Amino acid sequence: MNIIWHSKSKQFHLYNAKISYIICVTPVGDLGNIYFGKCIRDKEDMSYVVNRFGLSNVAVDADTESYSMELNRQEYPSFGTTDFGTQAFETEQSNGSRVNSFVYKDHRIFAGKTALTGLPATYADDKEAMTLEMQLEDEVAKMSLTLSYTIFEDHPVITRHAVFTNNGASKVMLTKALSACLDLPDQDYEWMQFSGAWARERIPVTRKITAGSVSIESKRGASSANQNPFIIIKRPNTDDHGGEAIGVSLVYSGNFIAQAECDTFGRTRILMGINPDRFSWPLEKGETFETPEAVIAYTAEGLNSLSQTYHELYNNNLVRGKWKNTPRPILINNWEATFMNFDEEKILKIAKKAKEAGVELFVLDDGWFGERDDDFAGLGDWIENPKKLPQGMAGLARKVNALGMKFGFWIEPEMVNPNSNLYRRHPDWALGTPGRKSSLGRHQLVLDFSREEVVDHIYGMLSKVLSDAPISYIKWDMNRSLTEVYNIDITPQEQGTVYHKYVMGVYRLYEKLRNDYPDILFESCSSGGNRFDAGMLYYAPQAWCSDNTDAIDRIRIQYGTSFGYPISSIGAHVSAVPNQQTGRNVSISTRANVAYFGTFGYELDLNHVSEEEFEEVKLQIEFMKENRELFQFGRFYRLRSPFDTDQCAWIVVSSDRRKAILGFYCLRANVNSLPGFLKLAGLSEEKLYVIEDKEYYGDELMNLGVTLKTLFEGGFALANDFISCVKVIEAKE
Ligand code: DGJ
Repeated sequence: MNIIWHSKSKQFHLYNAKISYIICVTPVGDLGNIYFGKCIRDKEDMSYVVNRFGLSNVAVDADTESYSMELNRQEYPSFGTTDFGTQAFETEQSNGSRVNSFVYKDHRIFAGKTALTGLPATYADDKEAMTLEMQLEDEVAKMSLTLSYTIFEDHPVITRHAVFTNNGASKVMLTKALSACLDLPDQDYEWMQFSGAWARERIPVTRKITAGSVSIESKRGASSANQNPFIIIKRPNTDDHGGEAIGVSLVYSGNFIAQAECDTFGRTRILMGINPDRFSWPLEKGETFETPEAVIAYTAEGLNSLSQTYHELYNNNLVRGKWKNTPRPILINNWEATFMNFDEEKILKIAKKAKEAGVELFVLDDGWFGERDDDFAGLGDWIENPKKLPQGMAGLARKVNALGMKFGFWIEPEMVNPNSNLYRRHPDWALGTPGRKSSLGRHQLVLDFSREEVVDHIYGMLSKVLSDAPISYIKWDMNRSLTEVYNIDITPQEQGTVYHKYVMGVYRLYEKLRNDYPDILFESCSSGGNRFDAGMLYYAPQAWCSDNTDAIDRIRIQYGTSFGYPISSIGAHVSAVPNQQTGRNVSISTRANVAYFGTFGYELDLNHVSEEEFEEVKLQIEFMKENRELFQFGRFYRLRSPFDTDQCAWIVVSSDRRKAILGFYCLRANVNSLPGFLKLAGLSEEKLYVIEDKEYYGDELMNLGVTLKTLFEGGFALANDFISCVKVIEAKE
């Protein structure tokens, strides 16, 4: 890994063993892109890439009379001069002008990576990464701009973000400030996005890009289940096992936009950042604005390798603290077992049985506080309900601890029910626009987390519960979108800051709680996977992936999630049948076979399963304990897509390739078909592996494949819907 500055040609080359990213200072002083892709040899001068000629109807710089931004690839394009594509940022200056032209002044190259202020971001020590920070200035607008690029030693990744500063006496309004722009020299790409809704999150959608724009966005205040802040640009022939692709992941949990724009000269511009719609940020003299971080990854080896890059980077350089690379406890959550209808006795009965099965952590879900017996009341009153918890959270936690299990509980700190003491005392703390009625979502309002005193108050209430009780885990939920967004404490001109400040408030509360209780394992949740993003992983290393706990639907949801997020982050539980969302009956073994490829836990009352199933649950827990490190932190490969076939298969492989675990699932039986073969991946070609007493070479398993006859006794073709298997594959000495 290195960053080279060629002072004569004014070019920067950031490279590691896998990628090169080359930037130039253009003839007009702004920053242009020369190359991003597979690592290439360093060269003093590559300015032949820069186009310096006029074309009809192309605006050129007045001094050079030969340079047009429109004909050259930009690093962070601005509005108003010679680039006519979508801009990476926009300002409104005091004279009403929106034209900007930032010119390179200076730069700094250093080992490591600096943190962002109040925002989540990847981190790295001096050996893991190098950073290039370029200073640019717009002398007319009296603004400066810092563009930061970090390259990692061990990952084909560049992270980027920008910082704007107003150096002038007059206020400047920042109306758009994206995190990154990437201009690519051709358009032979497909765009992949991960779309969905509640209970059907992160479904991969692929489309060819062509002249014009493709974009996805969120305006809900959270990153959303509708669109995820992660996209892939891939060559049409790229699949999981080969081909070029670029991923862009935003480390942010609020409104965002991701866009690909194909111009008339055959090039593609990729943009990602905070959604400019509903965003404007006033900068007074000396004030700065920092964008969130975008993580750009490249592969020439297919989508599995791109996903593995994100998995490894996020496990090693985004997740922090005690739970970084630590296998997660097997938990039981009472939500689907009791909903809010519980008391201490009921909870302890569930906990006791779970302990008998080997479960390690009990999670008390919604309903323990205030007057919370249904979802019409109580949110905001973070005080135990004495009818349900006579000795408080501390009493219950100690009783669960005495059973030999850890204890954790559910919160939804960003919300308030109109029927709550908090709302009666502070009705003005809920987000709302003066003179308008406030829309409800699940009978609740959103607290204005853009206001410090609101966040501080909630922090006070939560830390009271936390400091009294031995708590090991928190599930932080968020069950509605933001509406009528308005902060009554700030000026009309500042209202465009509220969405972003809200997210910053959420991050601030997370950070305070994490600092106070560094051992607590946080799991983020937002009606399931409505805020499953890299920003959240900085605070909460795992996220409840979906409220849809049906194993067959979960196969698709977890498969889609795996493109951008590590298996260790995917909250996955075995729930009761018939499933609450789909009514489907799936065997307890298939339910576990899906949940193993996640954090693993149970979301049911084990007192209500048959004796035979209970014995199976015990074995499942034993198996997970033995293998969770491999499941959660092994190298994960998608093998067969549940979107393209009636089957799904995936495999996790240990770093020394000596051990792997294969998951195979049948979503729908295919009558009168041959069993067929499944080609494995990630194994060592030379090694001899054993699958259930039979021996196979790695190259055999990866090229010929395993026959499904081997996986299913009696022949796959005769099998039923929803059957599955998980097979351990181990190398012989
Ligand atoms: C939505 C979550 O996704 C569920 O798991 C559960 O915690 C409920 N909220 C509780 O209200």
